[in-house]
Amino acid sequence: MAARNSDAAAAKGNQKGIEYASRDEIAALQLERMRKSLAHSYANVAHYKQAFDAAGVHPDDLETLADLAKFPFTEKEDLRQNYPYGMFAVPMDQVARIHASSGTTGKPTVVGYTKGDIRIWAELVERSIRASGGRPGDIVHIAYGYGLFTGGLGAHYGAEQMGCTVIPISGGATERQVQLIQDFKPDIIMCTPSYLLTIADEFTRQGLDPARTSLRIGIHGAEPWSEAMRQDIETRFAIDAVDIYGLSEVMGPGVANECVETKDGPHIWEDHFYPEIVDPVSGEVMPDGEEGELVFTSLTREAMPVIRYRTRDLTRLLPGTARSMRRMGRIRGRSDDMMIIRGVNVFPTQIEELILQNGCLAPHYQIEIRRQGSMDELTVCTEILPEHAAEEPRAAAAKDLIRHIKSMIGISVKIKMLDPGGIERSQGKAKRVIDLRGL
Ligand code: DLL
Repeated sequence: MAARNSDAAAAKGNQKGIEYASRDEIAALQLERMRKSLAHSYANVAHYKQAFDAAGVHPDDLETLADLAKFPFTEKEDLRQNYPYGMFAVPMDQVARIHASSGTTGKPTVVGYTKGDIRIWAELVERSIRASGGRPGDIVHIAYGYGLFTGGLGAHYGAEQMGCTVIPISGGATERQVQLIQDFKPDIIMCTPSYLLTIADEFTRQGLDPARTSLRIGIHGAEPWSEAMRQDIETRFAIDAVDIYGLSEVMGPGVANECVETKDGPHIWEDHFYPEIVDPVSGEVMPDGEEGELVFTSLTREAMPVIRYRTRDLTRLLPGTARSMRRMGRIRGRSDDMMIIRGVNVFPTQIEELILQNGCLAPHYQIEIRRQGSMDELTVCTEILPEHAAEEPRAAAAKDLIRHIKSMIGISVKIKMLDPGGIERSQGKAKRVIDLRGL
């Protein structure tokens, strides 16, 4: 397989693999694979046949990559309508594994993989771990959840593929996480950024310094996190913390990964996933550099190809740096998480940045939205650090945060300042927004 050889070449450090190929070479490979993926979807998935026919397009109409814009989008709702196996493009006896994402409402979204899909997934997670600075022989502590969620098993297969020693601890049982990090001496930890902060607190509670572990690298994703949170993690653990992106509908973790040498946003593994940014309202394709909704077309998936899948994630496409493949900016948030407060669009990560800049607050927070008359109102629930817990510094920290949010984001908020430990700790994806409007 081309991808395999390319990865092996990149691993040797000769920089001749597809990750370093010219833009022309990447585009030629994308076009060839996109044609196959459209034809495979049209021939084998009733939903795509109907949707393409209704839009008056046929896979043969794709002459250039830009022609993809003629094809209809796929939405989460389409996956739900075809629950559980209607989006599969191969017979069930070729489906080696199922994952599912629960979502907050309705039926889960089901994803299927052939053995070949799982092999490519493992190779892309291996590529991601290498981009993060990992090497064969490293010990990898995996605290993403195992099970239907793609985080645990996705990371696991990639780390094994690389030739690492895997500790498949999964999420939760935080005391034990600390014990195993102390005893098994891992080089790399893979978990959500919010869960790593929970683990950091547990180190401190046990009187241990998280900066003195064997850990060298943290590979974090599955939820939005800010640059300020990266800095906090890097300082507390004395590690390099890099961003891994993915979603189950498109594969799982390892759709894109940051390179440790630049830490400037995840490189999208464009030989397997074709990204577009579209205007969230009109659906028009936007030029690179502009912020909009990220849309993916899978180029090599067999069991469940996705064509123009709308992720709801808001970001920008940026030129390659450490690799030739394009990067995505840090995800600002999901369009579902955007709050509109007196006409101002607000994302939890914007508030996160300001909480982390305030030296008196812990990096844990939640945002409550209430309806006051016809207006939405935000209460930022945050936690004072033990050393600032006296009444005066506590009031000053709250005042400071209110002032910063007003001047940087442009909205007035209320603050609920909780005692140390007052915010519920994340064990996986942190729940940042609590919507109390319907109550
Ligand atoms: O969260 C896959 C994953 C596992 C990615 C482990 C990285 C690490 P889902 O549960 O389907 O899959 O959720 C996908 O999570 O659409 C984003 O909104 C969000 N997300 C994932 N990675 C990042 C990231 C996994 N690095 C949804 N930054 C996506 C911001 C992220 N948001």
